[in-house]
Amino acid sequence: MIGAGQLARMTQQAAIPLGIELRVLAASDRDPAVLAGAICRVGSHESLDDLRAVAEGADAVTFDHEHVPNRWVQALAEQHAVRPGPRSLALAQDKHHARRTLAGLGIPVPPFELVRAGDVAALERFAADHGWPVVVKAPSGGYDGRGVALVGSPAEAAVLDLGVQHWLLEERVRIERELAVLVARRPSGETVVYPVVETLQQDGICHELVMPARVPPEVARQATAIAQRILDDTDAAGIVATELFLDVGGELLVNELATRPHNSGHATIEAAATSQFENHLRGVLDWPLGDVSMRAPAAAMVNVLGGADGSDPATRLPEVLADPSVHVHLYGKQARPGRKLGHVTALAEDHERALAAARRAAAGLAGAGLALTGGTG
Ligand SMILES: Nc1ncnc2c1ncn2[C@@H]1O[C@H](COP(=O)(O)OP(=O)(O)OP(=O)(O)O)[C@@H](O)[C@H]1O
Ligand SMILES: [Mg+2]
Repeated sequence: MIGAGQLARMTQQAAIPLGIELRVLAASDRDPAVLAGAICRVGSHESLDDLRAVAEGADAVTFDHEHVPNRWVQALAEQHAVRPGPRSLALAQDKHHARRTLAGLGIPVPPFELVRAGDVAALERFAADHGWPVVVKAPSGGYDGRGVALVGSPAEAAVLDLGVQHWLLEERVRIERELAVLVARRPSGETVVYPVVETLQQDGICHELVMPARVPPEVARQATAIAQRILDDTDAAGIVATELFLDVGGELLVNELATRPHNSGHATIEAAATSQFENHLRGVLDWPLGDVSMRAPAAAMVNVLGGADGSDPATRLPEVLADPSVHVHLYGKQARPGRKLGHVTALAEDHERALAAARRAAAGLAGAGLALTGGTG
């Protein structure tokens, strides 16, 4: 696995009972997956030599993030089973490419246009057609809401600096709910689809979710069908997460894709018969996929962020563990204000109870210096 962050760490946890030996390309030998026992090679995901070295002799190569240059993924795919392959990975790497590809398949996406960064006149023309504010995105490299800006006027556009050469302009969708559909896929095309997840954002960052989503069955069915359709005729393998908007008019639009385990699937560790991490491994290795049905009527997940005082949430674990409905995951990362350090999942008879329990536990772990904004990986 290229990358050794929390997704690789939880993949390592799923690899253990199956006897899979997970080797990671890590930025440091203190990365979360390495601390969990994955075999470590320290190196850069931007170096083809390092990528080749970690891939040597592996049954399959997969990713914990989408930042490996696509030309290196293509080069690796000449000698290794790279899963997902370069074509589907490109959909997660380049938001403009994804918009164009999905629109070409007839899948609904927000109206969009790619312009030169700083071209305020082009942005004004887009706003004249689609209204203010305009959503401006870095086409690649962004995550956790970094690289996404809401621009309300030409003056705001004039001072916007996303540090990229092009801006992807999008109509600001009036969002009723944000949904995510997780599909696990084998290279042969066989898929299983988890119950639809509802993500709750603050300042453009997903910090909470409930599962299954609180939407009519017909909406869940449509979201599932869209997510599956995207995967027809691709080289995707393992987990693909499709983020969707349900707009106030009841229409579903695809936001973005991730071709790896995803924050929106963390609750599957306890809430589903097979976690997204295990199904990622099964899909990547072309093994039969596991049962995705839920083990409780409702689940909720809340991310644990570093508190403003920089203290370690682990010091507050005992108080939180007193609630038997709560499952804590800490990622072994150094505590920093606002940093994603872990998550909490709660299972319950209904969404409200699950969410209340998970929120209580996450707040308890973050401590008095609770910081709700400004995620930093
Ligand atoms: N066109 C849009 N209209 C309205 N809101 C949007 C639009 N695009 C993005 N957003 C809001 O911004 C959030 C982040 O956008 P997006 O998922 O594209 O960015 P990201 O940084 O890649 O995200 P992630 O947090 O998934 O890594 C979305 O979840 C949504 O809340
Ligand atoms: Mg997103």
